[in-house]
Amino acid sequence: MCPQNIHPIEDRILKRSERESSNNHRGGVFWLCGLSGSGKSTLALELEKLLFEKNIQNIVIDGDDVRNGLCKDLGFSMGHRKENVRRVSEMAKLMSRNGFVVIVSLISPTKSIREDAKEIIGEDDFFEIFVKCSFEKCKQRDVKGLYAKLDNGEIESFTGKDSTFEPPLTPWLLLDTENTSLASSMIKLSTAVMDEVT
Ligand code: ADX
Repeated sequence: MCPQNIHPIEDRILKRSERESSNNHRGGVFWLCGLSGSGKSTLALELEKLLFEKNIQNIVIDGDDVRNGLCKDLGFSMGHRKENVRRVSEMAKLMSRNGFVVIVSLISPTKSIREDAKEIIGEDDFFEIFVKCSFEKCKQRDVKGLYAKLDNGEIESFTGKDSTFEPPLTPWLLLDTENTSLASSMIKLSTAVMDEVT
């Protein structure tokens, strides 16, 4: 139900279908979830470049970026993570319904949080991608130095430690970045996305 006195634009003059046929691809949201350091952002940015080179209109929405702006006011309690995911889902929905391929890179730690995202975006436009990597391996990589901070007691509610992560059981796509190379994960990811959107 809409808030009082709010009238969302339901009937656009420029239709989604017109954008999609002009673009030669459909819109959709490719939602990468997984632990911090699992490789979500790396894969998202490689995919962004690859799609761009194939003239696919796309955009990356990354957790660290939104948490530096749109979601600056949020922390890492489960309630705040839920709100973070809600805001990103609403943005992704607007973009995908206007023909963009939206690549989301967010931990999105729980089944229910990801179900909320799917509900907002719409089942037909939501593609869940699990970037699988163990806590130990992410800790070993420690790209951002956060796992070292965790060991020093400088971070609370850290995903996989004192804040839960529920792995998706039946994702649309699973990328195991612990046991396969980045290059092969990229091939798997880009092939699946290209097949879906073109
Ligand atoms: S989510 O849980 O709400 O989906 P999101 O993907 O936006 O998380 O943000 C995660 C990023 O914030 C991580 O990549 C990491 O760099 C940083 N971060 C800072 N504190 C935490 C924390 N307590 N738990 C997880 N990530 C954190």
